[in-house]
Amino acid sequence: MKKRNDILVAGDLNVDLLYNDLSNLPQTGEEVLAGDFNMALGSSAGIMAANIAALGVNVAFVGVVGNDLFGQYIIDQLKQKNVSTQYVKVRENFSTGSTVVMNQGQERANLTHAGAMASLCIEDFPWEEMKRISFFHLANPFVLPQMRNNLLGLFDRAKDCGMITSLDPQWDVKDKWDMDLKGLLPQVDYFFPNEKEFALLTKSQTVGEGIQSLEAVFKHVVITRGVKGSVLYTPGHRKEQGAVLNNQVVDCIGAGDAFCAGFLAAKIDGLSDTDALKSGAITGALSTTIAGGAGAFNSKEEFLQKAEELLG
Ligand SMILES: Nc1ncnc2c1ncn2[C@@H]1O[C@H](COP(=O)(O)OP(=O)(O)OP(=O)(O)O)[C@@H](O)[C@H]1O
Ligand SMILES: [Mg+2]
Repeated sequence: MKKRNDILVAGDLNVDLLYNDLSNLPQTGEEVLAGDFNMALGSSAGIMAANIAALGVNVAFVGVVGNDLFGQYIIDQLKQKNVSTQYVKVRENFSTGSTVVMNQGQERANLTHAGAMASLCIEDFPWEEMKRISFFHLANPFVLPQMRNNLLGLFDRAKDCGMITSLDPQWDVKDKWDMDLKGLLPQVDYFFPNEKEFALLTKSQTVGEGIQSLEAVFKHVVITRGVKGSVLYTPGHRKEQGAVLNNQVVDCIGAGDAFCAGFLAAKIDGLSDTDALKSGAITGALSTTIAGGAGAFNSKEEFLQKAEELLG
């Protein structure tokens, strides 16, 4: 019998083309050689799904790719990481989303073509099946125009299906930061902005001011702060969690996505918010020990073993 999915992850879906060891970032009219190249599953939602599947959670993905080689690569990668792709749409006449990442030391330049992923719309979701899936996570709606414009409609319907919902807003590529949080957050059980995104979304100088401006309409706001860890706010309460610092950092790509995966895997296991914060801190830290965001651990056993080593 087919296993029931624990979580439906939806959102951006693209391939990362990673050019490393550049002598300098190319200027107009210039050609620069890269010393190293890698192709990997990219996108906030894709990386989150791969990480939470690696923790043993049954995950289905909702997203869109084109009918091309990159699309096939993404589907193969998701399957290899045990993410169910039955709800991934292959759309004709669109190119699969891709990001060229140029890395030179600590400097990085990205170029994204959103392509097929940007066509994700509310009709792409398996609404009947969603009544039988407990959790729903959406990542990076800012690169999905039809989601961005109808976030409330989407989360209303997910709540009508009885789901526990979460949202990782990521960066607003249009720099508008016009998400209606007061309307939306009553339907979002866990909201996962990083500190900078939260300040821009709430137009506030401090996190405290931003939280106050939401007038307690929210359920859980989890603000991630890189090496400074994370803070969980529930109306009237605040809980801090330190980062698990380590000396094996390769890059911080996808740390936030891995954090969401660790946090939500713990909630799916029925653990407390405090334990979920700890779990997120460990998966976030582990993801910094490898290049890219997915692949620091490939099973629950490997996660537990690496977590023990990391915590010393
Ligand atoms: N250098 C680091 N060392 C240890 N833990 C880290 C480090 N960077 C991030 N983390 C962990 O990962 C969590 C999420 O990181 P961060 O706040 O950078 O997310 P983000 O900005 O959303 O990242 P992204 O969207 O690029 O994945 C942090 O709360 C922390 O627990
Ligand atoms: Mg993030």
